[in-house]
Amino acid sequence: MDLGLEGKVALVTGASKGLGFGIARELTREGARVAISSRSEERIAAAAQAIGTRGFVHDTGDASSVPDLIARVEQELGPIDILVTNSGGPPASEDALSFGLDDWRAAYELLLLGAVALVQAAVPGMQARGWGRVISVSSGVVREPSPVLVLSASHRAGLLAALRTIARQVAGDGVTINSLLTGVIATDRSRELGSDRPERGAQIPAGRLGTVEEFAAAAAFLSSERASYITGAALRVDGGASRSV
Ligand SMILES: NC(=O)c1ccc[n+]([C@@H]2O[C@H](COP(=O)([O-])OP(=O)(O)OC[C@H]3O[C@@H](n4cnc5c(N)ncnc54)[C@H](OP(=O)(O)O)[C@@H]3O)[C@@H](O)[C@H]2O)c1
Repeated sequence: MDLGLEGKVALVTGASKGLGFGIARELTREGARVAISSRSEERIAAAAQAIGTRGFVHDTGDASSVPDLIARVEQELGPIDILVTNSGGPPASEDALSFGLDDWRAAYELLLLGAVALVQAAVPGMQARGWGRVISVSSGVVREPSPVLVLSASHRAGLLAALRTIARQVAGDGVTINSLLTGVIATDRSRELGSDRPERGAQIPAGRLGTVEEFAAAAAFLSSERASYITGAALRVDGGASRSV
């Protein structure tokens, strides 16, 4: 299938490793011109070199620096056609009451405000040009909150509602906005959370954790010309793990 991504300009945030890096690599393979960002100059430069893209320093939790990021990317690569919003995850705890207000505020800025700022900055240009794709890397916990991930579930659920609203508003302008509800994919994040234990994989109907490549393939499809009538969707990439309808 030709995804029609040749020459498209993409920005993938939180992309020095893991899911963001995998998506950037897949979009590059499909012929897109990809900018990637993360907090560390050293890590993002190494990642950019590995896939032959351009790296930019940007903290997804810093909404105020979004206009500068978008301007730098557009100056170097041209108008952004595809935006993939991603970052690291917030802290986890088995005690949902243990987080202070500062933790809640930081998670809000990282997972909700930072992503909305990126969407607000990139989408009007997409509307004006009559074509655009936004992919939000979200989590299955928005449907089935995990006991240890209250910060993630709360803010990602809010972002999902915001993106559904915006997706309906811009659907007539050739811009689609979709979310990927991540199951357990083998990355440093899932290793840090202890989700990569063999018994965890055995609990997933597919019998194993997902790979970054499998996840990135879903993102590439939603970024494509072929996905033009899919918007406001939340696609599970979880090997059948979710029980909800
Ligand atoms: N893997 C899973 O199974 C899974 C499941 C559900 C949800 N998720 C979510 O999916 C997202 C990506 O997960 P992952 O597994 O790819 O994690 P990962 O392997 O730990 O990679 C996280 C990436 O995000 C970057 N990053 C972290 N904090 C950032 C910030 N404040 N601003 C910009 N970049 C930032 C990191 O780069 P720098 O350190 O260089 O900034 C790194 O490139 C996370 O939000 C995670 O919670 C993952």
